[in-house]
Amino acid sequence: MDNIEKIKKLKEEKNAIILAHYYVDEEVQKIADYIGDSFYLAKVASQTEADRIVFAGVEFMGESAKILNPNKKVLMPDAFADCPMAHMITIKEIKEMREKYDDLAVVCYINSTAEIKQYADVCVTSSNAIKIVKALPQKNIFFIPDQNLGDFVRRQVPEKNVMTNYGHCPRHTNITLDKLNEVKQKYPEAKIAVHPECKREIVEAADFVGSTSAIIDYVVQTEAKDFIIGTVDGVFAKIKELAPNKNLHTIMDVQVCPNMKKVTLEKIVDVLENDTNEVILNDDFMQKALSPLKKMLELAK
Ligand code: 13P
Ligand code: SF4
Repeated sequence: MDNIEKIKKLKEEKNAIILAHYYVDEEVQKIADYIGDSFYLAKVASQTEADRIVFAGVEFMGESAKILNPNKKVLMPDAFADCPMAHMITIKEIKEMREKYDDLAVVCYINSTAEIKQYADVCVTSSNAIKIVKALPQKNIFFIPDQNLGDFVRRQVPEKNVMTNYGHCPRHTNITLDKLNEVKQKYPEAKIAVHPECKREIVEAADFVGSTSAIIDYVVQTEAKDFIIGTVDGVFAKIKELAPNKNLHTIMDVQVCPNMKKVTLEKIVDVLENDTNEVILNDDFMQKALSPLKKMLELAK
């Protein structure tokens, strides 16, 4: 029996579902029950009837699924697949900002640890950050931990005082304007679609800025033939499936998330077979971190 057959059989035996982010390898995306951006996957995780959730993604995604489902088993194919940005903010920084501003909302990108989420007022993803920040009653917003997504929100919601810390995604901030201009010269007719985790100069040069699913929708629905994509190339798999005639170009030679790459079919078989790499969180953490996640699900409706 090959890995795909084993996964199908084990999923039924264990009443498990597999959620996969667009950044994991195509062969993993293919065996998933649900593929999506972070927001879509959090929503699916909040609604499932399955006993086990196998999260083909990085740690913060598995943690959010567990917080939304404290009584289910959430299994991570690779226990070390973690998003470095999730750790780029401290509790001390949040407390200092709370002391400084009475009228402050701590808006926490879902790419953060469960420990940090406990101190947030609301979570957001790249697909709903603008909508949620606009809807908050507070004028002062401490947007953590992604300074680039925070900067994007700041410019879209000028009526708020959006402050950020120094966190960033190493994969997206790696993308340079020089390289973008080089690729654009090669394909002058191409449309540029980027993720808001990119630096401001990249976002400003783009025709479209959005979450991974928004980028996929944009490319599939836009008339052009050539597209320059400023995000991890895992999104190419879905675009190729939906619009095989589009030409997709990366900006950098390599646009992969090494942590998402750690997820393999073999590891999924292993966790399904042995119930290993279960996400275990302290009950107190989970209760406190649930409120900002629930608030996101409500406000994003
Ligand atoms: P999305 O919410 O757009 O899927 O992004 C997740 C992510 O980690 C981007 O680097
Ligand atoms: Fe984290 Fe960046 Fe990887 Fe997204 S692409 S999971 S933000 S390291």
